[in-house]
Amino acid sequence: MSREPAAHENLTTLSKHLASRGLAPGLDEVLLAIALGGKAIGHRVRRARIDDVVGVAGGENVFGEVQQKLDVLSDEILLACLKDTRATAVYASEEQDGPLVLRTASEGGRYCVLADPLDGSSNIDVAVSVGTIFSVLPNDRPDAETAAAVLQPGRRQVAAGYIVYGSSVVLVLATEAGVDMYTLDPVLGEFVLVEEGIRIPDEKKIYSINEAYVNDFDDGLRAYLEYAHGSGYGARYIGSMVADVHRTLLKGGVFIYPATTKAPRGKLRLMYEGNPMGYVVERAGGAASAGTTPLLEAVPTDVHERTPVVLGSKAEVEQVTRRLGA
Ligand code: AHG
Ligand code: MN
Ligand code: MN
Repeated sequence: MSREPAAHENLTTLSKHLASRGLAPGLDEVLLAIALGGKAIGHRVRRARIDDVVGVAGGENVFGEVQQKLDVLSDEILLACLKDTRATAVYASEEQDGPLVLRTASEGGRYCVLADPLDGSSNIDVAVSVGTIFSVLPNDRPDAETAAAVLQPGRRQVAAGYIVYGSSVVLVLATEAGVDMYTLDPVLGEFVLVEEGIRIPDEKKIYSINEAYVNDFDDGLRAYLEYAHGSGYGARYIGSMVADVHRTLLKGGVFIYPATTKAPRGKLRLMYEGNPMGYVVERAGGAASAGTTPLLEAVPTDVHERTPVVLGSKAEVEQVTRRLGA
């Protein structure tokens, strides 16, 4: 009778799995640094009330948005982990005024990391899932222009993903090889591979949008909602992009944060919310749009620019975009 392998024998850790993926030089050390940052941020998120890091930090970010203490703390943790990583050329984030050049190409800086260190942070004090979103671009610039290497379209990403701090800490990582999911084993302190080669369902009648703004939606989007309301769709909206996108990736459906009359470019930021999530969904066989143009083709002019986002199952994204463009 064959012996069931002991649980630990099926233990593929993140570092072991990355080593098997044959990634470009230095990329694995950048991804492991981000994962380390995620472990540390997850620990602080879990202890938020205890450590009294819930609430506002007193400052504002470049958007004039009040920064939560954990926003600032998460940004500091991520930067500290990446500063130590020789392959990191530039760090840019929602909480930083501009890109920070850590190393030029001739100093070994191969990759730019852009991050939303804590997404959904307004939900921290009510214990709703939040997360860290990251995007990795190649440093393709001469030393003197290193900071500008962050301004590349999402299509140029070499890796992207997110870490959800929810009922468990889950890392979803997309690379050329596909989309893989790891769960943090709190006892081992290791991210363990739980699913390899995730594919988003081609269709699913779930839409995710904040309908409170319906009076500010354009006619095409209202036409989509009318179609959805009459076609047996379910609505799910958590209000943390990372949680809404994670559900969309695993169950299918469409996530929409649209342009509105009050926010003509939408709310979400292209470089560290739209692009990374768009890359993950497209690598899983889904689609990502800026409304009427492919999201990953957008050519950025500012690291903090906003974009409308429609992403998810191909068929469901198409149901939205064909009406937006009508
Ligand atoms: P962040 O916490 O990084 O500022 O992001 C919040 C974003 C995103 O997580 C979510 O999809 C969106 O805000 C929700 O916005 P509304 O409250 O306007 O729906
Ligand atoms: Mn965010
Ligand atoms: Mn944020």
